[in-house]
Amino acid sequence: MYYDNMSGHNVEQISESVHWVGVRDWDRRLFDALIPMPQGTTYNSYLVRGEKTALIDTVNPGFEEELIAKISTLMDPAEIDVIVMNHAEPDHAGSLPIMLEKCPRAVVVATERGGRLASMYFNVPDDRLHIVKDGDTLDLGGRTLRFAEAPWLHWPETMFTFLEEERVLFPCDFLGAHTAKGIWSDQNEEIYSYAKRYFGQIMMPFRKQGQRGVEKARQLNPLIIAPSHGPIHRNPDKIMDLYDRWTDGETKNKVMIAYVSMWSSTSKLVHTLSEQLISDGVEVVVHELTGSDLGEIAKDLVDSRAIVLGSPAFLGGLHPLAAYAAMLVKALRPPAKYAAVVSSYAWGGGAIKQAGEILGATNMDIVGTVEISGPPGEAEHQAVIELAQELATKMRG
Ligand code: FEO
Repeated sequence: MYYDNMSGHNVEQISESVHWVGVRDWDRRLFDALIPMPQGTTYNSYLVRGEKTALIDTVNPGFEEELIAKISTLMDPAEIDVIVMNHAEPDHAGSLPIMLEKCPRAVVVATERGGRLASMYFNVPDDRLHIVKDGDTLDLGGRTLRFAEAPWLHWPETMFTFLEEERVLFPCDFLGAHTAKGIWSDQNEEIYSYAKRYFGQIMMPFRKQGQRGVEKARQLNPLIIAPSHGPIHRNPDKIMDLYDRWTDGETKNKVMIAYVSMWSSTSKLVHTLSEQLISDGVEVVVHELTGSDLGEIAKDLVDSRAIVLGSPAFLGGLHPLAAYAAMLVKALRPPAKYAAVVSSYAWGGGAIKQAGEILGATNMDIVGTVEISGPPGEAEHQAVIELAQELATKMRG
Protein backbone atom coordinates (compact mmCIF):
# COMPACT_ATOMS: atom_id res chain seq x y z
CA MET A 1 0.00 0.00 0.00
CA TYR A 2 1.14 3.51 -0.80
CA TYR A 3 -0.13 6.18 1.58
CA ASP A 4 0.76 9.83 1.32
CA ASN A 5 0.64 11.16 4.87
CA MET A 6 0.97 14.76 3.73
CA SER A 7 -2.19 14.65 1.63
CA GLY A 8 -4.11 11.93 3.38
CA HIS A 9 -4.92 10.40 0.01
CA ASN A 10 -4.86 6.65 -0.26
CA VAL A 11 -3.66 5.14 -3.53
CA GLU A 12 -2.91 1.46 -4.09
CA GLN A 13 -0.47 -0.33 -6.34
CA ILE A 14 -2.39 -3.28 -7.77
CA SER A 15 0.25 -4.62 -10.15
CA GLU A 16 3.74 -3.64 -11.28
CA SER A 17 2.66 -0.67 -13.38
CA VAL A 18 -0.91 -0.05 -12.22
CA HIS A 19 -2.08 2.14 -9.35
CA TRP A 20 -5.65 2.55 -8.18
CA VAL A 21 -6.28 6.29 -7.89
CA GLY A 22 -10.05 6.10 -7.55
CA VAL A 23 -12.29 7.63 -4.91
CA ARG A 24 -14.63 6.24 -2.32
CA ASP A 25 -18.10 7.72 -2.08
CA TRP A 26 -19.33 6.38 1.26
CA ASP A 27 -22.18 8.90 1.29
CA ARG A 28 -23.93 8.09 -1.95
CA ARG A 29 -27.25 6.54 -1.14
CA LEU A 30 -28.95 6.04 -4.51
CA PHE A 31 -27.93 4.90 -7.96
CA ASP A 32 -30.04 6.07 -10.90
CA ALA A 33 -31.93 8.12 -8.28
CA LEU A 34 -33.64 4.81 -7.53
CA ILE A 35 -31.68 1.91 -6.05
CA PRO A 36 -30.26 2.18 -2.50
CA MET A 37 -26.52 1.75 -1.93
CA PRO A 38 -26.07 0.75 1.72
CA GLN A 39 -22.26 0.76 1.53
CA GLY A 40 -21.90 3.65 -0.92
CA THR A 41 -19.70 2.98 -3.93
CA THR A 42 -16.34 3.75 -5.49
CA TYR A 43 -15.47 5.42 -8.78
CA ASN A 44 -12.35 3.51 -9.71
CA SER A 45 -9.72 5.16 -11.81
CA TYR A 46 -6.39 3.50 -12.61
CA LEU A 47 -3.05 4.88 -13.65
CA VAL A 48 -1.02 2.65 -15.98
CA ARG A 49 2.59 3.72 -16.36
CA GLY A 50 4.89 2.61 -19.14
CA GLU A 51 7.12 5.12 -20.92
CA LYS A 52 3.81 6.85 -21.49
CA THR A 53 1.00 7.05 -18.95
CA ALA A 54 -2.67 6.19 -19.33
CA LEU A 55 -5.48 7.00 -16.96
CA ILE A 56 -8.25 4.42 -17.18
CA ASP A 57 -11.61 6.14 -16.60
CA THR A 58 -12.17 9.17 -14.38
CA VAL A 59 -14.55 9.79 -11.48
CA ASN A 60 -17.97 11.18 -10.69
CA PRO A 61 -18.14 14.98 -10.99
CA GLY A 62 -17.40 16.57 -7.63
CA PHE A 63 -14.44 14.23 -6.97
CA GLU A 64 -12.04 15.70 -9.54
CA GLU A 65 -9.83 17.38 -6.95
CA GLU A 66 -9.41 14.15 -5.04
CA LEU A 67 -8.53 12.28 -8.23
CA ILE A 68 -5.97 14.92 -9.20
CA ALA A 69 -4.50 14.91 -5.69
CA LYS A 70 -4.13 11.14 -5.80
CA ILE A 71 -2.44 11.19 -9.20
CA SER A 72 -0.16 13.95 -7.92
CA THR A 73 1.20 11.66 -5.21
CA LEU A 74 2.70 9.59 -8.07
CA MET A 75 3.33 12.02 -10.93
CA ASP A 76 2.44 15.36 -12.42
CA PRO A 77 -1.08 14.98 -13.94
CA ALA A 78 0.03 17.25 -16.80
CA GLU A 79 2.24 14.38 -18.01
CA ILE A 80 -0.63 11.98 -18.61
CA ASP A 81 -0.70 11.01 -22.29
CA VAL A 82 -3.95 9.08 -22.60
CA ILE A 83 -7.30 8.99 -20.83
CA VAL A 84 -9.20 5.82 -21.63
CA MET A 85 -12.98 6.25 -21.54
CA ASN A 86 -14.38 2.75 -21.33
CA HIS A 87 -17.89 4.11 -20.77
CA ALA A 88 -19.44 7.55 -21.18
CA GLU A 89 -21.77 7.58 -18.18
CA PRO A 90 -20.91 10.61 -16.02
CA ASP A 91 -19.83 8.59 -12.96
CA HIS A 92 -16.78 7.55 -15.03
CA ALA A 93 -16.47 10.23 -17.69
CA GLY A 94 -18.03 13.28 -16.03
CA SER A 95 -14.64 14.58 -14.93
CA LEU A 96 -13.26 14.63 -18.48
CA PRO A 97 -13.66 18.41 -18.97
CA ILE A 98 -11.53 19.15 -15.91
CA MET A 99 -9.08 16.34 -16.58
CA LEU A 100 -8.50 17.54 -20.15
CA GLU A 101 -7.58 20.93 -18.73
CA LYS A 102 -5.23 19.41 -16.16
CA CYS A 103 -3.72 16.99 -18.68
CA PRO A 104 -3.17 19.27 -21.68
CA ARG A 105 -1.45 16.68 -23.88
CA ALA A 106 -3.84 13.80 -23.15
CA VAL A 107 -6.13 12.33 -25.78
CA VAL A 108 -9.31 10.48 -24.92
CA VAL A 109 -9.46 6.87 -26.14
CA ALA A 110 -12.97 5.58 -26.80
CA THR A 111 -15.05 3.50 -29.17
CA GLU A 112 -16.69 5.30 -32.08
CA ARG A 113 -19.99 5.52 -30.21
CA GLY A 114 -18.09 6.54 -27.10
CA GLY A 115 -16.41 9.34 -29.02
CA ARG A 116 -19.78 10.70 -30.10
CA LEU A 117 -21.05 10.63 -26.53
CA ALA A 118 -17.84 12.26 -25.26
CA SER A 119 -18.41 15.12 -27.69
CA MET A 120 -22.09 15.43 -26.86
CA TYR A 121 -21.86 15.21 -23.06
CA PHE A 122 -18.40 16.55 -22.29
CA ASN A 123 -17.50 18.72 -25.30
CA VAL A 124 -14.38 16.68 -26.03
CA PRO A 125 -13.02 18.16 -29.28
CA ASP A 126 -12.28 15.89 -32.25
CA ASP A 127 -8.55 16.61 -32.13
CA ARG A 128 -8.40 15.16 -28.61
CA LEU A 129 -10.26 11.99 -29.46
CA HIS A 130 -8.58 8.73 -30.45
CA ILE A 131 -11.15 6.22 -31.67
CA VAL A 132 -10.41 2.51 -31.26
CA LYS A 133 -12.01 -0.66 -32.57
CA ASP A 134 -12.20 -4.15 -31.17
CA GLY A 135 -8.71 -5.64 -30.92
CA ASP A 136 -6.81 -2.38 -31.37
CA THR A 137 -3.76 -1.88 -29.19
CA LEU A 138 -1.95 1.13 -27.85
CA ASP A 139 1.77 0.99 -27.10
CA LEU A 140 2.64 2.89 -23.95
CA GLY A 141 6.32 1.96 -24.25
CA GLY A 142 6.93 -1.27 -22.40
CA ARG A 143 3.24 -1.65 -21.67
CA THR A 144 0.44 -2.44 -24.11
CA LEU A 145 -3.24 -1.68 -23.80
CA ARG A 146 -5.63 -3.81 -25.82
CA PHE A 147 -9.22 -2.63 -26.36
CA ALA A 148 -12.19 -4.97 -26.61
CA GLU A 149 -15.55 -3.62 -27.66
CA ALA A 150 -18.23 -4.90 -25.29
CA PRO A 151 -21.37 -3.01 -26.27
CA TRP A 152 -24.48 -2.74 -24.10
CA LEU A 153 -22.77 -3.38 -20.79
CA HIS A 154 -24.80 -1.39 -20.08
CA TRP A 155 -24.67 1.44 -22.63
CA PRO A 156 -24.06 1.02 -26.35
CA GLU A 157 -20.52 2.40 -26.34
CA THR A 158 -18.98 0.27 -23.58
CA MET A 159 -15.59 -1.40 -23.99
CA PHE A 160 -12.99 -3.25 -21.94
CA THR A 161 -9.32 -2.33 -21.69
CA PHE A 162 -6.69 -5.00 -21.07
CA LEU A 163 -3.11 -4.49 -19.95
CA GLU A 164 -1.40 -7.33 -21.78
CA GLU A 165 1.91 -7.61 -19.93
CA GLU A 166 0.30 -7.85 -16.50
CA ARG A 167 -3.04 -9.34 -17.60
CA VAL A 168 -5.13 -6.74 -15.83
CA LEU A 169 -8.65 -6.35 -17.21
CA PHE A 170 -10.50 -3.04 -16.82
CA PRO A 171 -14.14 -3.84 -17.70
CA CYS A 172 -15.63 -0.61 -16.28
CA ASP A 173 -19.16 -1.28 -14.92
CA PHE A 174 -19.11 -4.96 -15.88
CA LEU A 175 -18.19 -7.34 -13.01
CA GLY A 176 -18.39 -4.46 -10.51
CA ALA A 177 -20.28 -3.85 -7.29
CA HIS A 178 -21.64 -0.84 -5.48
CA THR A 179 -19.73 -0.93 -2.21
CA ALA A 180 -16.93 1.29 -0.95
CA LYS A 181 -15.57 -1.43 1.30
CA GLY A 182 -12.30 -3.17 0.46
CA ILE A 183 -9.65 -2.51 -2.14
CA TRP A 184 -9.59 -6.23 -2.94
CA SER A 185 -12.76 -8.30 -3.16
CA ASP A 186 -11.44 -10.73 -0.51
CA GLN A 187 -11.47 -7.81 1.95
CA ASN A 188 -15.26 -7.54 1.75
CA GLU A 189 -17.03 -10.61 3.09
CA GLU A 190 -20.30 -9.55 1.42
CA ILE A 191 -18.80 -8.82 -1.98
CA TYR A 192 -20.69 -11.44 -3.96
CA SER A 193 -23.99 -10.39 -2.44
CA TYR A 194 -23.23 -6.80 -3.46
CA ALA A 195 -22.10 -7.98 -6.89
CA LYS A 196 -25.37 -9.86 -7.31
CA ARG A 197 -27.59 -6.92 -6.42
CA TYR A 198 -25.49 -4.75 -8.75
CA PHE A 199 -25.90 -7.30 -11.54
CA GLY A 200 -29.66 -7.36 -10.91
CA GLN A 201 -30.08 -3.62 -11.15
CA ILE A 202 -27.60 -2.83 -13.94
CA MET A 203 -26.62 -5.84 -16.06
CA MET A 204 -29.65 -8.17 -15.83
CA PRO A 205 -31.57 -6.40 -18.62
CA PHE A 206 -28.58 -7.14 -20.90
CA ARG A 207 -27.99 -10.82 -20.17
CA LYS A 208 -27.24 -11.83 -23.79
CA GLN A 209 -24.64 -9.11 -24.11
CA GLY A 210 -23.39 -10.12 -20.66
CA GLN A 211 -22.78 -13.69 -21.87
CA ARG A 212 -20.62 -12.31 -24.65
CA GLY A 213 -18.90 -10.04 -22.14
CA VAL A 214 -17.91 -12.96 -19.91
CA GLU A 215 -16.70 -14.89 -22.95
CA LYS A 216 -14.58 -11.94 -24.00
CA ALA A 217 -13.20 -11.53 -20.50
CA ARG A 218 -12.28 -15.24 -20.32
CA GLN A 219 -10.54 -15.12 -23.71
CA LEU A 220 -8.27 -12.41 -22.32
CA ASN A 221 -7.41 -14.69 -19.39
CA PRO A 222 -6.98 -11.95 -16.76
CA LEU A 223 -5.03 -12.36 -13.54
CA ILE A 224 -6.74 -9.30 -12.08
CA ILE A 225 -10.14 -7.83 -12.84
CA ALA A 226 -10.26 -4.15 -11.97
CA PRO A 227 -13.79 -2.83 -12.44
CA SER A 228 -14.89 0.77 -12.06
CA HIS A 229 -17.09 0.19 -9.01
CA GLY A 230 -16.24 -1.74 -5.88
CA PRO A 231 -13.22 -3.83 -4.99
CA ILE A 232 -10.73 -5.45 -7.37
CA HIS A 233 -10.75 -9.19 -8.03
CA ARG A 234 -7.45 -11.04 -7.71
CA ASN A 235 -9.32 -14.35 -7.96
CA PRO A 236 -11.08 -13.51 -11.25
CA ASP A 237 -12.64 -16.94 -11.84
CA LYS A 238 -15.07 -16.56 -8.96
CA ILE A 239 -16.81 -13.45 -10.29
CA MET A 240 -16.71 -14.76 -13.89
CA ASP A 241 -18.23 -18.08 -12.78
CA LEU A 242 -21.05 -16.20 -11.04
CA TYR A 243 -21.61 -14.04 -14.12
CA ASP A 244 -21.80 -17.23 -16.22
CA ARG A 245 -24.75 -18.36 -14.10
CA TRP A 246 -26.41 -14.97 -13.84
CA THR A 247 -26.12 -14.11 -17.52
CA ASP A 248 -27.33 -17.60 -18.49
CA GLY A 249 -30.49 -16.90 -16.47
CA GLU A 250 -29.98 -19.93 -14.26
CA THR A 251 -32.88 -19.90 -11.76
CA LYS A 252 -33.48 -21.73 -8.50
CA ASN A 253 -36.68 -23.29 -7.22
CA LYS A 254 -37.33 -19.90 -5.66
CA VAL A 255 -40.20 -17.42 -5.51
CA MET A 256 -39.75 -13.73 -4.86
CA ILE A 257 -42.90 -12.23 -3.36
CA ALA A 258 -43.35 -8.45 -3.34
CA TYR A 259 -46.46 -7.17 -1.65
CA VAL A 260 -48.14 -4.28 0.10
CA SER A 261 -51.24 -4.40 2.26
CA MET A 262 -53.37 -1.60 3.72
CA TRP A 263 -55.71 -3.49 6.08
CA SER A 264 -54.03 -6.91 6.32
CA SER A 265 -56.20 -8.81 3.85
CA THR A 266 -53.50 -8.98 1.17
CA SER A 267 -50.83 -9.78 3.75
CA LYS A 268 -52.93 -12.74 4.99
CA LEU A 269 -53.17 -14.05 1.44
CA VAL A 270 -49.42 -13.67 1.01
CA HIS A 271 -48.76 -15.42 4.30
CA THR A 272 -50.89 -18.43 3.34
CA LEU A 273 -49.35 -18.55 -0.12
CA SER A 274 -45.77 -18.37 1.17
CA GLU A 275 -46.40 -21.05 3.82
CA GLN A 276 -47.80 -23.39 1.19
CA LEU A 277 -44.90 -22.77 -1.18
CA ILE A 278 -42.42 -23.51 1.60
CA SER A 279 -44.33 -26.70 2.46
CA ASP A 280 -43.96 -27.67 -1.20
CA GLY A 281 -40.19 -27.31 -0.97
CA VAL A 282 -39.91 -23.91 -2.63
CA GLU A 283 -37.43 -21.29 -1.42
CA VAL A 284 -39.42 -18.13 -0.66
CA VAL A 285 -38.26 -14.59 -0.07
CA VAL A 286 -40.82 -11.91 0.80
CA HIS A 287 -40.42 -8.16 0.36
CA GLU A 288 -42.98 -5.94 2.09
CA LEU A 289 -42.92 -2.92 -0.14
CA THR A 290 -43.37 -0.08 2.37
CA GLY A 291 -39.99 -0.92 3.89
CA SER A 292 -38.20 -2.86 1.21
CA ASP A 293 -34.86 -2.18 -0.42
CA LEU A 294 -35.20 -2.18 -4.22
CA GLY A 295 -31.60 -3.37 -4.48
CA GLU A 296 -32.51 -6.53 -2.55
CA ILE A 297 -35.52 -7.05 -4.82
CA ALA A 298 -33.22 -6.70 -7.84
CA LYS A 299 -30.84 -9.21 -6.25
CA ASP A 300 -33.60 -11.75 -5.64
CA LEU A 301 -34.84 -11.35 -9.20
CA VAL A 302 -31.47 -12.61 -10.51
CA ASP A 303 -32.24 -16.26 -9.68
CA SER A 304 -35.96 -16.50 -8.85
CA ARG A 305 -37.97 -18.83 -11.04
CA ALA A 306 -41.25 -17.12 -10.20
CA ILE A 307 -42.52 -13.89 -8.77
CA VAL A 308 -45.71 -13.14 -6.89
CA LEU A 309 -47.18 -9.68 -6.61
CA GLY A 310 -49.60 -8.87 -3.79
CA SER A 311 -51.61 -5.66 -3.76
CA PRO A 312 -54.85 -4.25 -2.50
CA ALA A 313 -57.00 -2.40 -5.01
CA PHE A 314 -56.17 1.29 -4.82
CA LEU A 315 -58.59 3.61 -6.58
CA GLY A 316 -59.30 1.09 -9.32
CA GLY A 317 -55.79 -0.25 -9.84
CA LEU A 318 -52.66 -1.50 -8.10
CA HIS A 319 -51.45 0.17 -4.94
CA PRO A 320 -48.77 2.58 -6.27
CA LEU A 321 -45.99 0.70 -4.46
CA ALA A 322 -47.06 -2.54 -6.13
CA ALA A 323 -47.29 -0.79 -9.51
CA TYR A 324 -43.75 0.49 -8.89
CA ALA A 325 -42.53 -3.04 -8.12
CA ALA A 326 -44.27 -4.46 -11.20
CA MET A 327 -42.69 -1.77 -13.39
CA LEU A 328 -39.29 -2.55 -11.88
CA VAL A 329 -39.73 -6.25 -12.69
CA LYS A 330 -40.72 -5.41 -16.25
CA ALA A 331 -37.76 -3.04 -16.70
CA LEU A 332 -35.11 -5.34 -15.23
CA ARG A 333 -36.12 -8.32 -17.42
CA PRO A 334 -35.37 -11.07 -14.90
CA PRO A 335 -35.17 -14.70 -16.02
CA ALA A 336 -38.28 -15.71 -13.99
CA LYS A 337 -40.65 -17.91 -15.98
CA TYR A 338 -43.79 -17.70 -13.88
CA ALA A 339 -45.86 -15.09 -12.07
CA ALA A 340 -48.96 -14.93 -9.90
CA VAL A 341 -50.94 -12.07 -8.41
CA VAL A 342 -53.09 -11.88 -5.30
CA SER A 343 -55.27 -8.95 -4.35
CA SER A 344 -58.05 -7.86 -2.04
CA TYR A 345 -60.51 -5.03 -2.43
CA ALA A 346 -63.36 -3.45 -0.50
CA TRP A 347 -65.81 -2.10 -3.07
CA GLY A 348 -64.13 -2.43 -6.46
CA GLY A 349 -61.12 -4.31 -7.84
CA GLY A 350 -58.74 -3.36 -10.60
CA ALA A 351 -55.37 -4.40 -9.17
CA ILE A 352 -55.25 -7.74 -10.97
CA LYS A 353 -56.18 -6.12 -14.26
CA GLN A 354 -53.42 -3.54 -13.99
CA ALA A 355 -50.87 -6.15 -12.87
CA GLY A 356 -51.80 -8.19 -15.96
CA GLU A 357 -51.24 -5.17 -18.17
CA ILE A 358 -47.75 -4.59 -16.77
CA LEU A 359 -46.56 -8.18 -16.33
CA GLY A 360 -48.29 -9.30 -19.53
CA ALA A 361 -45.60 -7.39 -21.40
CA THR A 362 -42.91 -9.70 -19.96
CA ASN A 363 -42.11 -13.27 -20.99
CA MET A 364 -43.55 -14.64 -17.77
CA ASP A 365 -46.45 -17.07 -17.74
CA ILE A 366 -49.05 -15.69 -15.33
CA VAL A 367 -49.98 -18.98 -13.70
CA GLY A 368 -52.97 -17.66 -11.81
CA THR A 369 -54.52 -14.88 -9.80
CA VAL A 370 -56.67 -14.65 -6.69
CA GLU A 371 -58.80 -11.56 -6.14
CA ILE A 372 -61.01 -11.39 -3.09
CA SER A 373 -63.43 -8.91 -1.58
CA GLY A 374 -62.81 -8.11 2.08
CA PRO A 375 -60.81 -10.19 4.53
CA PRO A 376 -60.04 -13.76 3.46
CA GLY A 377 -62.17 -16.60 4.82
CA GLU A 378 -61.65 -20.32 4.46
CA ALA A 379 -62.57 -20.46 0.77
CA GLU A 380 -60.22 -17.59 -0.08
CA HIS A 381 -57.32 -19.18 1.81
CA GLN A 382 -58.04 -22.41 -0.02
CA ALA A 383 -57.91 -20.61 -3.37
CA VAL A 384 -54.49 -19.22 -2.49
CA ILE A 385 -53.25 -22.65 -1.36
CA GLU A 386 -54.30 -24.09 -4.71
CA LEU A 387 -52.56 -21.25 -6.54
CA ALA A 388 -49.38 -21.93 -4.56
CA GLN A 389 -49.58 -25.65 -5.38
CA GLU A 390 -50.05 -24.93 -9.06
CA LEU A 391 -47.14 -22.55 -9.05
CA ALA A 392 -44.90 -25.07 -7.25
CA THR A 393 -45.87 -27.78 -9.75
CA LYS A 394 -45.08 -25.54 -12.74
CA MET A 395 -41.75 -24.56 -11.23
CA ARG A 396 -40.75 -28.18 -10.69
CA GLY A 397 -41.77 -29.01 -14.24
FE1 FEO B 1 -20.96 3.24 -13.37
FE2 FEO B 1 -22.82 2.97 -16.15
O1 FEO B 1 -21.82 3.85 -14.89
